[in-house]
Amino acid sequence: MTTYRSKILATGSAFPANRVTNADLAQRVETNDEWIVERTGIRARRVADAAKGELNSELALRASKQALDRAGLSATDIDFILYATVSPDHVMPNTACVLQEKLGAKRAGALDISAACSGFVYALSIADAFIKTGQYRNILVIGAEVLSPMVNWDDRGTCILFGDGAGVAVLSRAPEGDASQIYSTHLYADGWSKELFFVPAGGTAMPVTHEVLDQKLHLMQMKGREIYKVAVRMLADCATEALTKNGFTVKDVDWLVPHQANLRIIEAVAKRLDFPMEKVIVNIEEFANTSAATVPTAFDEAVTNGKIKRGDLVLFDVFGAGLTYGSALLRY
Ligand SMILES: CC(C)(COP(=O)(O)OP(=O)(O)OC[C@H]1O[C@@H](n2cnc3c(N)ncnc32)[C@H](O)[C@@H]1OP(=O)(O)O)[C@@H](O)C(=O)NCCC(=O)NCCS
Repeated sequence: MTTYRSKILATGSAFPANRVTNADLAQRVETNDEWIVERTGIRARRVADAAKGELNSELALRASKQALDRAGLSATDIDFILYATVSPDHVMPNTACVLQEKLGAKRAGALDISAACSGFVYALSIADAFIKTGQYRNILVIGAEVLSPMVNWDDRGTCILFGDGAGVAVLSRAPEGDASQIYSTHLYADGWSKELFFVPAGGTAMPVTHEVLDQKLHLMQMKGREIYKVAVRMLADCATEALTKNGFTVKDVDWLVPHQANLRIIEAVAKRLDFPMEKVIVNIEEFANTSAATVPTAFDEAVTNGKIKRGDLVLFDVFGAGLTYGSALLRY
């Protein structure tokens, strides 16, 4: 069987207009800018306004149009849409179908991927496999979240951490001889730790009732300190595995693009890998944790501002609720 390679052809991103600072949050819960910056590195986040049309699918639409434009493709060139999100517009249909219609991607199959903050790398891995087999040529890989309606804005332990946004990559079959390629992806999960970060109600296990709403069980609950401990190990292990598998060392890596959950986690991983922070892409300060959108938006920003260039060796490294974790090593 002929196998092909995939490459990221182009990227795009979009954020809601409303910028909420730490000082804004301090008016609602007992916290302050200094504590949040010191413990997380976050200074601001964007919060979507559904009344103004800032739906998850609308952010993804803006990011997708930008990515397609940069790729020189039209929506009908897209064979498949893989949409990583845990904050879909609706439970049913999937948001990939909603986007398909908005975009006019008439030929595409459309699927949502639920792997929380690891979602984009999970989706990228599946897209890469589709392209490798020759089944598809152009796939829209999306990481997009509107988490704000799932945040308990009265819980200072979580509300400071999250934001809304969308990032998109067009993954396409690489022409023969092209250096750009996905080398490998590595996906893992730890379902035993599922209650470290979860939304108790809203699924079929606990449908929404008045009592559920009163107890805020439809909102995110997190054991932050416990996640922190395992996240560093998961990220470091996945990064090392991707490098070992392909015969590279950390010295070969031009850019590390980690999930943006907490700057201290990112710094601890860099330290453990003996990797310089100057080569780590960070956008948490301005956008906070946008779950599946952190890696594609951070990557897009770094490509757009000229930091990441064609030919660079780039390592994506993620973890999230589930728990899920993984990495992807690619030459851009
Ligand atoms: C949530 C997180 C920032 C908390 O930081 P921390 O250093 O672990 O802080 P702790 O939870 O130990 O809390 C320390 C103290 O600060 C307080 N505190 C918590 N949130 C606060 C806030 N926003 N402002 C001020 N004080 C706060 C706590 O109540 C606690 O007070 P106490 O000692 O009197 O009980 C950190 O644990 C974290 O980022 N964890 C990972 C979470 C994550 O990545 N989630 C997403 C997964 S994809």
